[in-house]
Amino acid sequence: MTEVGIDAIEIRTGKLRLDLPGTFAPAQGEDPGKYTKGLGLNASSFPDSYEDIVTMGANAAHRLMEREGLEPEDVGRIDVATESSFDNSKPVSTYIAGCLEQVYEGKFSHANKGERKFACVAGTQSIDDAYNWIRAGRNRGRSALVIATDTALYARDDPGEATQGAGAVAMLISEDPDLVSLSTEQGYGSADETDFLKPNQQFPAVDGKRSVQVYLARMREALQDFESVADRTHSDDFAYIPFHTPFPGMVRKAALFGYRHMIRDTSIEDDLAEEIGRQPREEAFEDEEEYEDALREYMDGLKETDAYREWYDRIVEPTLTISREVGNWYTGSVHLARASALRTAVEEGRDLTGERLLVGSYGSGAQAEIHAETVQDDWREKIEGMAASLDEQLAGRYDLSYEEYERVHDVHNHAIELDGDIEELTVPDEEFVFEGWGRMGERKYRFVE
Ligand code: CAA
Repeated sequence: MTEVGIDAIEIRTGKLRLDLPGTFAPAQGEDPGKYTKGLGLNASSFPDSYEDIVTMGANAAHRLMEREGLEPEDVGRIDVATESSFDNSKPVSTYIAGCLEQVYEGKFSHANKGERKFACVAGTQSIDDAYNWIRAGRNRGRSALVIATDTALYARDDPGEATQGAGAVAMLISEDPDLVSLSTEQGYGSADETDFLKPNQQFPAVDGKRSVQVYLARMREALQDFESVADRTHSDDFAYIPFHTPFPGMVRKAALFGYRHMIRDTSIEDDLAEEIGRQPREEAFEDEEEYEDALREYMDGLKETDAYREWYDRIVEPTLTISREVGNWYTGSVHLARASALRTAVEEGRDLTGERLLVGSYGSGAQAEIHAETVQDDWREKIEGMAASLDEQLAGRYDLSYEEYERVHDVHNHAIELDGDIEELTVPDEEFVFEGWGRMGERKYRFVE
């Protein structure tokens, strides 16, 4: 059977940067350690006044198409995943296609366009849709463009404000992909939850502490479901395990649960038994609370062991390096985690061809999805191109003062009508920019040379 997967990736960050421990924490009267050590974040990316989900998505897609030498006719499908949409009818993909058609001679007239919604898991679901379309033989040799784009902003003074971010990840999904192929096997953990939602409002309603528990519960169910159709997972099976990363501290919690599950009944559990005992088995307890206490004690011990720390540093930590500098990008976040890991492998000169990744996506509301990926022959070249573009963008971001941050947040707040001119903090250069509204309330964009 033909392999289907990700052929190439391009990342577009918002052009502004908020230093969390240096600028945000002192203004909030908080200890910088909450950011660097607790949440695991150094900075957030923000959009300048002329950036939004369309410009970031279109700019990512444009660079991807340029690097891959693609024309609109080569793309049979454009799916945008976002939870920051501004229209309940016209999909963001039509705006992005409209932008791209300003700079290409051809048109996306025969491409199927849509918009996917299920919180942060929608990016992965869009990849799924593309995978199924190709596997069904409906693609006529063409590829799909999947764009995960979000402005992950929270209301001022919401605890989530600490984890904001903005950016887009464009991915080309093709037959015989150059980067990673996707496993047919998938696992799901899904339940009707009210942990994080946006009932026709711009900023989310969040039960932050509960959202952390819901993430862990759905991820555990997805892993069990994955194992019911694939082989049982083992901690040595995967080169990296990229998770959805609302903030790196969340992944630290998820990874510990995953490791405990994967080493159960293995020689690793046996080897650790002398140090921390064996894992508590639910059937050995009559009382649920006693079982939970025993589990917590085991996990506290496990996270201090050399075996776990070495595994975490090698398999999970490399997935977090981009996220630490940009914050949460919702639908793009798990795709940043994959990119981050592969970039680390390039930097370390590792040969990853044929190695496997286990990818854990999550969307509030709530659903987790887990699948495996196999790294393909030309992965290095593809990641080098992506990394060069990303490094240049990250280094070029404008550092916000706290007052500028407050102003930028207001600029992007749909409920606030600002007095006076909206100042741009950066200068657009060979990119799509937002330039105002049309007569039917549509947004208008142009390419700046
Ligand atoms: N030094 C070291 N660590 C510190 C510290 C310091 N000075 N101060 C605080 N910390 C630690 C805390 O102990 C805590 O770590 P643990 O969770 O391991 O105990 C961590 O830093 C965060 O501190 P708080 O819990 O005090 O932070 P908070 O109350 O402001 O809220 C949050 C944290 C609930 C995650 C909040 O940021 C939030 O609501 N975020 C949005 C929701 C979210 O991201 N949920 C994640 C799961 S849902 C999801 O994944 C979907 C999605 O993308 C939104």
